[in-house]
Amino acid sequence: MIADRGERAETAAAWRATVLSLFPEMFPGPLGVSLAGKGLDAGRWALDVLDIRDFARDKHRSVDDEPFGGGPGMVMRPEVVDAALQAIEGRPGPLICLSPRGAPLTQARVRALAAGPGVRLLCGRYEGIDERIFAVHPVEEVSVGDYVLSGGEPAALVLIDAVVRLLPGVMGNEASPGEESFESGLLEYPHYTRPAVWQGLEVPEVLLSGHHERIRTWRLERAEEETRRRRPDLWAARGETEKSRGARGR
Ligand code: ADE
Repeated sequence: MIADRGERAETAAAWRATVLSLFPEMFPGPLGVSLAGKGLDAGRWALDVLDIRDFARDKHRSVDDEPFGGGPGMVMRPEVVDAALQAIEGRPGPLICLSPRGAPLTQARVRALAAGPGVRLLCGRYEGIDERIFAVHPVEEVSVGDYVLSGGEPAALVLIDAVVRLLPGVMGNEASPGEESFESGLLEYPHYTRPAVWQGLEVPEVLLSGHHERIRTWRLERAEEETRRRRPDLWAARGETEKSRGARGR
């Protein structure tokens, strides 16, 4: 049937996350509900999770060992991680290892990933992964913030969530991503809904005016104000971007 073939072709082309984890039961987790979950069910994106333990060679299926030089914790064994990485070699997207020492995840990186065919994610556990893996495999290391999680899995869930909500047909209102925090280097402007007066607090008059141009200007000014006050680092970075744009003559 033609309709059936079309459907399968669409599924085959869907953005695909391939995850290597010692705790595959953590997936899809929160990504199985709400808009991400609906998108997953509808085939707008796809998720494959492989258990790293399936690549262990010995009879105990051991995946870790003590660190050379001593110290606390265990280290993921290179030959096990290597076998797992080889198994996902032909799959779509860049190879990313979630790690607190990685480059901070940004909305720009998220947007670039959403524009590609997918991502391959390696989730570390224990003290980390044998360093030689990074000499042999072209791995990009990414962090979701300056704090230490119990492993890469919650970070992988964060990364996938940030990407899939940008995919066509996943968010209810496809116009909104462009307007929200970070897309323009600014935090979002404040939002209000009914009632127009609540606990004696009034919604700003301009938002009730129906005057689109004034509303647009007000929102931009408020976004700039919030960014300056809450995130001086973002505000300064935006200033630099504007300056270099100016220097290039636009
Ligand atoms: N694994 C442990 N902590 C992490 C973090 N902050 N970001 C990414 N992966 C991690």
